[in-house]
Amino acid sequence: MNTFSYLNDALFEQITETLTTRGYCVLTDFLNPELTASLQRRVMNLDDDDFKHAGIGREHGFQVENTIRTDETRWLSDQHPVDAMFLQYMSEFKLALNRHLFLGLFDYECHYAHYAPGAFYKKHLDAFKGEANRVLSTVMYFNKDWQQDDGGQLLIYHPESGDVIESINPEYGTFVVFMSEEFPHQVVKSKRDRYSITGWFRIDRPLLR
Ligand code: OGA
Ligand code: MN
Repeated sequence: MNTFSYLNDALFEQITETLTTRGYCVLTDFLNPELTASLQRRVMNLDDDDFKHAGIGREHGFQVENTIRTDETRWLSDQHPVDAMFLQYMSEFKLALNRHLFLGLFDYECHYAHYAPGAFYKKHLDAFKGEANRVLSTVMYFNKDWQQDDGGQLLIYHPESGDVIESINPEYGTFVVFMSEEFPHQVVKSKRDRYSITGWFRIDRPLLR
């Protein structure tokens, strides 16, 4: 199997063009089907014990904050073959983004996330202008036959007007990428178990503006 067969120039041009003009991009054929299936099997077979309650902030500022978000997460590890394949894929994606967009991304970190029925993540930004080093946020979903009534949509807000500009069902195979500093977003309360991988491309210093 060629893991990277889907990483072709046409797809990259589509992504970078859309990121440049709109700041976010929603795709249904980003990962190849075999890798999507392997990741889905892996995330759905993780034990409850494998997940940690998600928190806000990093390192010393870290705190579990269950009024803002109630999902559970687990970082991917390059020691696990399936995780390693996804990390390798995203590393190829990073190189292409750097080639096309000159973003100077150096790192990608990502975790599996599980939203149990009733879980949500209120409106937030993944990075703050001028200080954070998260540049691009990504989300990949693993939930077959998602219905509108199941909730769990990712809502993306317009940076200035505050209007909802996108409502995305976390349907199996859907991949979303957006500029971390620009777009407030939220996860509507989910009525079903909802599985995903959320990740961030980073640069090694704050953006100077
Ligand atoms: C996050 C996040 C969105 C989603 O984890 O920061 O916004 O759709 N996730 O899971
Ligand atoms: Mn977020």
